[in-house]
Amino acid sequence: MWRAIGLMSGTSLDGVDVAMIETDGRDRVIPGAALTFPYPPQFRERLRSVLGGVGPIADVEEELTRFHAEAVEDFLRQHRGTAADVVGFHGHTIFHRPAERRTWQIGDGALLARRLGIDVVADFRSADVAAGGEGAPFAPLFHAALATTLAKPIAVLNIGGVANVSWIGEKANVLAFDTGPGNALIDDWVRRHTGAVADFDGALARVGRVSTAHVERFLSRPFFERPPPKSLDRDDFRDVMPAELSLEDGAATLTEMTAAAAAAATGYFPALAREWLVTGGGRHNPALLEALGRRLSVAVRPVETVGWDGDAIEAQAFAYLAVRSLERLPLSLPTTTGVPHPTCGGRLFTRSGA
Ligand SMILES: Nc1ncnc2c1ncn2[C@@H]1O[C@H](COP(=O)(O)OP(=O)(O)O)[C@@H](O)[C@H]1O
Ligand SMILES: [Mg+2]
Repeated sequence: MWRAIGLMSGTSLDGVDVAMIETDGRDRVIPGAALTFPYPPQFRERLRSVLGGVGPIADVEEELTRFHAEAVEDFLRQHRGTAADVVGFHGHTIFHRPAERRTWQIGDGALLARRLGIDVVADFRSADVAAGGEGAPFAPLFHAALATTLAKPIAVLNIGGVANVSWIGEKANVLAFDTGPGNALIDDWVRRHTGAVADFDGALARVGRVSTAHVERFLSRPFFERPPPKSLDRDDFRDVMPAELSLEDGAATLTEMTAAAAAAATGYFPALAREWLVTGGGRHNPALLEALGRRLSVAVRPVETVGWDGDAIEAQAFAYLAVRSLERLPLSLPTTTGVPHPTCGGRLFTRSGA
């Protein structure tokens, strides 16, 4: 068994999740401690300024790497006696266009390994994209490893900045794809109107009225007609902002769109999921979960109901994938990213720099 730390900086730009697991990189996973280190508002804006692959990328990459290093050091201080064999460093996606065979996560693996004195695996997605895959989603194999003892089929929905679903069948077969926007549209709407970073607890959406016309127009977009595999960049849906609506009605409408996009994923499942387990920050938004529940005929529950930690799963996934990378096991499959064959990936930066 390996002791691995995973680091995730998601498209929500909220901060870095740090999580420890023990794993064989196959079906044995023992989750350990986890912490989130929120970005200071100033750095959040620095990171936002390089989305799209523009601006002061090198400087931001170095600041991002240092922030990750400090997060791991702090995590290890708070959990004395914990040691890691490897760190899975996802970095931050600033550009994702698989159709152009390009996905870009910033983060300096060599710097992180040197500074921590721990081997680091980084650059998880580019081998998949180079081989013709979508480069996302990458957590599905970990979802399947977590779900070994659960009755299936189930759907695991991760609502981060973008949302992605993993349908897991009875033989632990996985079908995964991005479903549409996650929190990003709602966050951006609220930020633009109020300066707050999210619609906390769905407070605005709850008092607003959904514009059905906007939701229907949104659902008629070609993305939803497209069968999986498919993946999205953070801002691929930015043009659906319902500019003419009030703050509350816009929040309600974007929340409904996000839920509707996720529910539409059902149409591509090989068999009905018995239930939906929801992970990621979006599960803290009751308006979003209620909207999803109204659109699905099966139970929708946060992953905590099966004992998982929904604030840590993405970070745990990259700890798991770092171990798989060291074990030379595939990180992605034709049914998770559309890559033509099961594909290994990740790049090792040793603590010695060798
Ligand atoms: N109490 C809450 N109410 C509403 N939304 C929340 C709440 N807590 C977290 N969120 C949402 O979750 C997001 C963070 O989710 P996360 O899973 O970290 O996404 P990512 O992987 O993209 O970083 C926040 O930006 C916010 O939109
Ligand atoms: Mg996050």
